[in-house]
Amino acid sequence: MSSLKPVRGTHDLWGEDILKHLHIVQTARRVSLSYACQEIATPVFEFTHVFSRTLGDASDIVNKEMYTFPDKGHDELTLRPEGTAGIARAFISNGLAQHIPLKLFYQGPMFRYERPQKGRQRQFHQLGVEFIGTASSVADVEVISLAETLLKELKIKNYQLEVNSIGDKESRQIFRDKLVGYLEKYKADLSEDSQLRLNVNPMRILDSKNQKDQEILLGAPKLSESLNVESKKFFDEIIEHLEALKISYSVNEKLVRGLDYYCHCVFEFKTSDLGAQDAILAGGRYDGLIELMGGPHTPAVGFAAGIERLALLHNEKIESPRPTHLIPLGESAEKACVELCHQLRQQGLHIDMSYSGNMSKRMKKANKANAKFAVVVGDDELQKGEVTLKDLDNGQQQSLSIVDLPKKLQTLTSNN
Ligand code: HAM
Repeated sequence: MSSLKPVRGTHDLWGEDILKHLHIVQTARRVSLSYACQEIATPVFEFTHVFSRTLGDASDIVNKEMYTFPDKGHDELTLRPEGTAGIARAFISNGLAQHIPLKLFYQGPMFRYERPQKGRQRQFHQLGVEFIGTASSVADVEVISLAETLLKELKIKNYQLEVNSIGDKESRQIFRDKLVGYLEKYKADLSEDSQLRLNVNPMRILDSKNQKDQEILLGAPKLSESLNVESKKFFDEIIEHLEALKISYSVNEKLVRGLDYYCHCVFEFKTSDLGAQDAILAGGRYDGLIELMGGPHTPAVGFAAGIERLALLHNEKIESPRPTHLIPLGESAEKACVELCHQLRQQGLHIDMSYSGNMSKRMKKANKANAKFAVVVGDDELQKGEVTLKDLDNGQQQSLSIVDLPKKLQTLTSNN
């Protein structure tokens, strides 16, 4: 039944996939905590204007990819395609300006109506950080270094960091005029997409994948040549900090990013291991966003990474902790085990118990659940206050007092 398939571009997370997903989120949470971030969770949907007014009318996201719908109260809502605009909205709604500088970590599902392929879904997950309220170039570099630390902690190896400056508003306007002036001469030869972009978003032509466009761009004016003194100084500071922290990078003059809110430093960690979807993690500075949304002028910088893309690159198997399986034999043992399970779980142990079956069936279930130990509780043993503990890996078993069981299991499973 096709209606029982997941919607195209969405997937269920379970088994090893969810273990990996949780491991990635936990690692990112730990790394961001080491940079003194606090966690924030914003709603999965917002009023549409939160995104349409901020990401850019000419951006692919706003133009083609948003899941927008009227709700039953006739409000126009959109499933979030990214996290930054919602966090900027939350910053204003909650009056967080009094808490700056703020370092926020977030993660969760995002939604974009894109053509699904490897590393590209319609519901995907991002994790990210936003450092809000600081204009210092140190913040940009801390955000980049946090991102790199995360990739290293996840043992992802084959990546390259690309950075660029798109300057401040003034520099961008100068560049845009020069670029349009140059490209107008080749308009007829540009790809259809680039012809459309020429009037609405000419800077995006720089990262066109069309070969003819790229040939035309060889003679185009350079973004770096349009940067004013302040923009140049800011970018030079970032390069200096990157060198001091020994973070490898290359400057990609054509990196402009697809969202309108960026200014100054933009960056992407890319890989050649994912085919066309080569961006693992991307971000930049967005000093004007909060003000554009009606808040106070608040400089900010951040990044987001696609969790599914990180998962494709993270090749280590994640093991879940192995449970201990309780096997009651007899009526009183059955009842006693319900209580014993509860007690052992309260001590932080991973305890499982099947609800029916003879010894052999329950033992099979224990093995299937990858239990490391089985605790066999018989009616007679119970009278003596004893249980049998069996190591399911080597088959060895021992009798021990039920009172000593929690401590024994704690010692035996501490490295589990
Ligand atoms: P973005 O470049 O649109 O930036 O997305 C960031 C990352 O999300 C991408 O590098 C990619 O790993 C992942 N991603 C994007 N779309 C998909 C998709 N359809 N399927 C799977 N993964 C995807 C932003 O979203 C900005 N909010 C980043 C940012 C934060 N800038 C400043 N702060």
